[in-house]
Amino acid sequence: MKDTYISDSIVYVGVDDTTIDLFESQYVVPEGVSYNSYIIFDEKIAVMDTVDPRGTEEWLANVKKALDGKSPDYLVVQHLEPDHAGSIKALTGLYPDMKLVGNAKTFPMIHQFFEIDLPDEKMVVVKEGDTLSLGTHTLQFFMAPMVHWPEVMVTYEQSSKILFSADGFGTFGALSSDEEWLCEARRYYINIVGKYGAQVQALLKKASTLDIQMICPLHGPILKEDLGFYIGKYLTWSSYEPEEDGVVIACASIHGNTAKAAKQFAEILNQKGAKNVVFFDLARDDMAAAIENAYRYDKLVLAAASYDGGVFPCMEDFLNHLRSKNFQKRKVAYIQNGSWAPSAGKVMQSLISQMKNITEIEPMVTVRSTVKPETIAQMEALADALLA
Ligand code: FEO
Repeated sequence: MKDTYISDSIVYVGVDDTTIDLFESQYVVPEGVSYNSYIIFDEKIAVMDTVDPRGTEEWLANVKKALDGKSPDYLVVQHLEPDHAGSIKALTGLYPDMKLVGNAKTFPMIHQFFEIDLPDEKMVVVKEGDTLSLGTHTLQFFMAPMVHWPEVMVTYEQSSKILFSADGFGTFGALSSDEEWLCEARRYYINIVGKYGAQVQALLKKASTLDIQMICPLHGPILKEDLGFYIGKYLTWSSYEPEEDGVVIACASIHGNTAKAAKQFAEILNQKGAKNVVFFDLARDDMAAAIENAYRYDKLVLAAASYDGGVFPCMEDFLNHLRSKNFQKRKVAYIQNGSWAPSAGKVMQSLISQMKNITEIEPMVTVRSTVKPETIAQMEALADALLA
């Protein structure tokens, strides 16, 4: 179990979800996920966010145990996505005098999701930089639109210098797992928030003006040490710069011949001294991991079979994902396979042309069903150009 101690007056009350099949109905989470929630005890008591409906019962038990008969004065709603807001109604039902703290975009969305009676006096509407005193603790709110929804805000607790960062700095992996932060945090960030690099940069700029000693996100471990490392990763990811030298070979093969060619190309790259050559079978491997690695490394090789006058669908799916996540600033090379009228290359190039700051590396390798000596010659030339 990851360390959830924050301070004597700020308590973790979140829950792990280790049985969910797909997070947000699309991401495999072999180590589960946590829905984090916190309570700040002072003259006034504030609950920071709720949890997914899958965890309501366990969360309410945690909340009641921590409150030990007291009632919360505020529920701070930093994000309305159901994995955090899904238990709002359960809490307001238990504590009808509690006020909800949100911004101008929060409350209309609350009414979209829930039938809930919220008279004006129960709504505390905050805007950029506003503060809310709980006694010795003071919450200061910063708007973080599109990190990852428009109503998102983060909260800085001034006395303990803690940033409650909403989805920011979150990761897959339940707190009961031994999951390391970096790979799963990258997979989480790129796939969920990756499109919104500019907005993340804006939030990081605001955060740079604060003295932050601890980060309490809504998923994954509480970050207490070496915060510069985590912030540095977010600066890199949100600027779309590659993290490392390396080649991702993303392969869409029907009968295995394109995969064979792509693996031969990987061998050629390795023989030529390429670093970090990683292979993804787009038809079988986790698409989110392939996308994560495409962001991690600076070179991407797309190897695909032609299909119905276009490209084998899992490659199209991969490229559409990359485009929607604002993929850019990478070198891209192509291997196409076609037994009678190769069409994969053209379609891949057309999808890549919709992305910014891509350097296409030539020549495109064309495989006619299976690899021949002339294909190897093309691959040698492509490998030299890619690694130049
Ligand atoms: Fe973890 Fe955007 O919700």
